[in-house]
Amino acid sequence: MSIHFCSIFFFVLTGALGASDYYDAAVVEVQFPFRNITQEDELLNSTIQEYIRLIKSVPTNLDIIVFPESALGEAEPTPVPAPFKQLLCNSTAPEYKDYLKQLSCAAMEKKTTVVINVREVVDCKDPPSDEYCTRHGNKLDSVLHNTDVVFDHNGHVAARYRKWNLFGESSKSITRSPEVVTFKTKANDTFGIFTCFDIMFDVPTLNLTRNMHVKNVIFPNHWFSELPYLTALQAQHMWAQENDVVLLTAGANTPHTGSGGTGMFVGHKGALDQVIVPSPGGTKLLFHQVPRLTGTVEPTLDSTVSDEEIDALAAELDSFKLITDPTVYEQTSVQLDTNKTTVVEEICHGKDVTTCCKFTVSFSVNSTALTPGKKAYTYHMGVFNGVRSFSGTRDGGIESCAIMACLNDNPNSCGQRFSNYSDIAWPITFNNIEVVGNYTNVEHKIQYPNSVLTSLRSISPMKTTWKKEIKGDVVLRTHALVKSQSRILTFGIFGRDFSRDGPPLSYSAASLNRISWSLVTIVLISVAMLL
Ligand SMILES: *[C@@H]1O[C@H](CO)[C@@H](O)[C@H](O)[C@H]1NC(C)=O
Ligand SMILES: *[C@@H]1O[C@H](CO)[C@@H](O)[C@H](O)[C@H]1NC(C)=O
Ligand SMILES: *[C@@H]1O[C@H](CO)[C@@H](O)[C@H](O)[C@H]1NC(C)=O
Ligand SMILES: *[C@@H]1O[C@H](CO)[C@@H](O)[C@H](O)[C@H]1NC(C)=O
Ligand SMILES: *[C@@H]1O[C@H](CO)[C@@H](O)[C@H](O)[C@H]1NC(C)=O
Ligand SMILES: *[C@@H]1O[C@H](CO)[C@@H](O)[C@H](O)[C@H]1NC(C)=O
Ligand SMILES: *[C@@H]1O[C@H](CO)[C@@H](O)[C@H](O)[C@H]1NC(C)=O
Ligand SMILES: *[C@@H]1O[C@H](CO)[C@@H](O)[C@H](O)[C@H]1NC(C)=O
Ligand SMILES: *[C@@H]1O[C@H](CO)[C@@H](O)[C@H](O)[C@H]1NC(C)=O
Repeated sequence: MSIHFCSIFFFVLTGALGASDYYDAAVVEVQFPFRNITQEDELLNSTIQEYIRLIKSVPTNLDIIVFPESALGEAEPTPVPAPFKQLLCNSTAPEYKDYLKQLSCAAMEKKTTVVINVREVVDCKDPPSDEYCTRHGNKLDSVLHNTDVVFDHNGHVAARYRKWNLFGESSKSITRSPEVVTFKTKANDTFGIFTCFDIMFDVPTLNLTRNMHVKNVIFPNHWFSELPYLTALQAQHMWAQENDVVLLTAGANTPHTGSGGTGMFVGHKGALDQVIVPSPGGTKLLFHQVPRLTGTVEPTLDSTVSDEEIDALAAELDSFKLITDPTVYEQTSVQLDTNKTTVVEEICHGKDVTTCCKFTVSFSVNSTALTPGKKAYTYHMGVFNGVRSFSGTRDGGIESCAIMACLNDNPNSCGQRFSNYSDIAWPITFNNIEVVGNYTNVEHKIQYPNSVLTSLRSISPMKTTWKKEIKGDVVLRTHALVKSQSRILTFGIFGRDFSRDGPPLSYSAASLNRISWSLVTIVLISVAMLL
């Protein structure tokens, strides 16, 4: 574990900020499982001790620190008191687990907001009215939630958010209606919060941004990175940019399952700092003065990053597992003709609703770069409009298009990487890319500016433009690369149509599946031990 106080390569803040223009925040990527321990309660104890050590390690006044989703493992679900009901630090109330009490004390001692994610248990003997406490007609003793707990700087539980869009997680329940949760820090900043898979959906995420106009959002996650559109930092970057909010993210890190991704994203300005801890995994804390988007000074982030820096990050991520978006096998695509230097293509896809994307791509080809033994990505321009499954857990309406890296001339090889980064050559440098897509202009859709480099980081908004033009009931979105760039895996637009989404899981599968989930965890831990 190392503390990352100032980013070396990425996006160092420049210019003088006044005290009211920023707050101090830390986000933590936590190795999961944290130790090579098979006893769940020992794993929990050692992870909590590490959390407390990390909170104390920040050498200054701290407004907020964020820990990831599900990094405490499967041990000891705990009740969580409603906000401001009682102080847990040194509480003798037997129902609350010790680790909640310890973190309440840690928040109080450091005078900082602490965000963690736990398995919350709700007793069904006296359930709140919004709980589902029956399943298949049987009454349950208790239900579990995937819950973010926010301690304020006085150690009080200041917010409790129960994940609405579960990613499978068949041992967990959801409430009858979604919770839209906000809280304040000691510096009086209002934060919204949601968890992992939620980011793909409209509720409760857009309630926070569109209805409540929050400018800061917390995002604990345990993501499974997917090419071409949804590797972890790429998804976080595009969400923050389109919604123009500060997004503070903390990822549980397990490289062999493709999990990890932690950062600070300053809305339309891009990433202040970001990390995916590569194999063999580890824990990393990022600490920064985060500019407020509501501050008096327009923040400037230095986005300079060289090809060598991208290559160094990418090479480390060779064995970081990435899954492939199934829409690449269904999209309409055209291969980039590298005999030319400018290509213009309009490509359409979709049965009931059609998205057309016009690609204008200019590039230079350095044929001497492709030496014998080296491999080079081909590029295909792909468009998809339809419904996909997210790893079998839920369906979602997708309206995407991008120029994407592929292994060869076959479009089914898109969304994959060559296995050995040092074997890859980069004969193609893109000078400009412009992608224009058309969408119906309705509330239940959103489009994001999407890009990813081989470093699994997005291209800085300083090198791109992202525009919206409304023409009656049609909205045209334009994402353009305006500075030359190689090392591109994806550049385009990722759109969602929430009206074609499957419903969230509607009831608990609690008691029945708890055993099988413990088994899954044991298997995962065993796999982690083998690797
Ligand atoms: C974990 O910590 C709790 C109290 O904090 C203690 O009662 C328990 O024995 C510990 N478990 C292990 C395995 O260390
Ligand atoms: C909690 O108990 C510890 C150990 O007894 C003590 O050091 C600390 O001051 C107590 N904190 C509060 C808020 O009572
Ligand atoms: C905190 O912010 C609210 C608006 O969100 C404002 O009404 C209030 O005056 C602020 N309080 C302080 C102490 O600045
Ligand atoms: C959240 O937004 C959805 C979709 O716009 C809306 O139907 C719902 O009523 C909102 N919920 C809350 C609690 O604001
Ligand atoms: C590029 O030119 C070569 C040689 O003339 C030809 O074989 C190839 O098919 C061309 N590539 C494309 C994508 O048209
Ligand atoms: C082309 O690639 C070769 C080999 O990587 C490199 O030495 C050369 O500088 C490149 N030429 C240009 C114009 O970028
Ligand atoms: C990757 O390629 C480099 C150079 O071709 C080679 O030295 C290295 O052993 C390869 N690594 C693996 C894991 O195959
Ligand atoms: C996009 O443009 C194409 C071609 O003009 C049209 O057929 C299609 O209906 C448009 N799609 C939307 C959502 O407006
Ligand atoms: C994990 O612990 C097991 C049993 O103590 C040991 O055999 C294995 O080598 C350890 N693995 C790592 C990665 O430390």
